[in-house]
Amino acid sequence: MRQKQLSLGNVQRLRAFRRKEEIKMKFFVDTADIGEINELNTAGLIDGVTTNPSLIKKAGRDFKEIIADICKVTEGDVSAEVIAIDQQGMIEQGKILAKIASNVVVKLPLTGDGLKACRALTAEGIKTNVTLCFSANQGLLAAKAGATYISPFIGRIDDIHTDGMELIHHLRVIIDNYDFKTQILAASIRTPLHVRDSAIFGADVATVPPAVLWGLLNHPLTTKGLDQFVEDAKAADIKI
Ligand code: G3P
Repeated sequence: MRQKQLSLGNVQRLRAFRRKEEIKMKFFVDTADIGEINELNTAGLIDGVTTNPSLIKKAGRDFKEIIADICKVTEGDVSAEVIAIDQQGMIEQGKILAKIASNVVVKLPLTGDGLKACRALTAEGIKTNVTLCFSANQGLLAAKAGATYISPFIGRIDDIHTDGMELIHHLRVIIDNYDFKTQILAASIRTPLHVRDSAIFGADVATVPPAVLWGLLNHPLTTKGLDQFVEDAKAADIKI
């Protein structure tokens, strides 16, 4: 009876839960700004970093130097994206990026050439993050190509009046159906609700801009409660 009440998604999650020894949602930060990364590290808020050419442009420094600096202060995976769009060029650039540090993950676009590069780099033991995923079928192909991570772009799907979160749900079901090792990395996250829903739908990782990550802390009742405690501590002349 209880089993009947479970939605299809929940049944899949239950299966996955039984299969995996540990399920822990990870937070990556979506930035190439070393100052922002250091600040988040101080609070122990992040498990890794993702970058892309647009974020590197914003940081305004040499690409490989930025990645090397980020890797030094990050224990977990750091995604660095190739700029070539042909298979051979992506493989060559991927190998160069992977040599920067052992925690570099090579980010590749979800194209035919990108998947070929993904397969080749995976065969050499290099981690990959297949990016710009906008459909469940694209994600399925990336998982079959051996991607370490698949990056569905939630916010950009929402931008065109389609439900980005549905893609996370579909990818979760597909990956669990066939026990692919690929991790779902929810990307293009813009709001705290995107973070909450990514967790509800079972993304393995959410990569979140720094402002949104810090924004998760905000609650007016926390602010109000703390103001009251500070005021009462002063009134009572509490000293520690
Ligand atoms: O990780 C990809 C992400 O940076 C894209 O975000 O907000 O530009 O769609 P956005």
